[in-house]
Amino acid sequence: MRILFIGDVVGSPGRQMLTTYLPKLRSKYKPTVTIVNGENSASGKGITEKIYKQILDLGAQVVTLGNHTWDQRDLIEVIDHCPNLVRPANFPEEVPGQGYKIIKVNEIEIGVINIQGRTFLPPLDCPFKKVDQLIAEIKKRTPIIFVDFHAEATSEKQAMGWYLDGRVSAVVGTHTHVQTGDFRILPNKTAYITDVGMTGPYDGILGMEREAVLKKFITSLPVKFEVAKGREQLNGVIIDIDEKNGAAKSIKPIIINEDHPFFD
Ligand SMILES: [Fe+2]
Ligand SMILES: [Fe+2]
Repeated sequence: MRILFIGDVVGSPGRQMLTTYLPKLRSKYKPTVTIVNGENSASGKGITEKIYKQILDLGAQVVTLGNHTWDQRDLIEVIDHCPNLVRPANFPEEVPGQGYKIIKVNEIEIGVINIQGRTFLPPLDCPFKKVDQLIAEIKKRTPIIFVDFHAEATSEKQAMGWYLDGRVSAVVGTHTHVQTGDFRILPNKTAYITDVGMTGPYDGILGMEREAVLKKFITSLPVKFEVAKGREQLNGVIIDIDEKNGAAKSIKPIIINEDHPFFD
């Protein structure tokens, strides 16, 4: 079976890229399941119920989130009515939403976990202990487990990759918005990449207008970040998995932008 995962969708440029390329990617690669990280899909900050539904309509089965989960506050009221939306599992127990989802496609069950790192991000429950708990639950039903680890520090992401090697099918990093070149199959058959990258503006800084980010660095004055305009990009990965035991067979990066055009 094959998983197509798309890195953090940023604002309307990211949604535009999804609208144009998700159908083409799905017809080219024929993934069993498509997962999209949508934590920045509403104006760069969070997601709305409407955008979540639009992403599903484009062919995704699961949408994952991250530290921007609650930026669109209305989501707090509606997240429990979004069955295929997954927010970080190590948020406090009391909050609404779910930290993992098991979906069934063509009789194959796939567990999708979203979990957030704690290094250079707000404090949360331990992602390592939480993920152990979730894996034990999901393994009762399926050996195919996909982990979107939303974290800042490369070291914490590598640590999670090695921690879960041989216990899940894939650990893919999100949040830092720049695709890393370290995609590989770890020795015990877990697919790994430190960061999948971002789907949105190509010429901004992590998707935001360059001028505002530069002003912040140069003056330290408070500035308002807006999603950058202009050229666009899409970043993702394709992961092939042995459906009998959940072992990863390959992981390939996807990059679409003016310098790396898409070919059918
Ligand atoms: Fe993000
Ligand atoms: Fe993030």
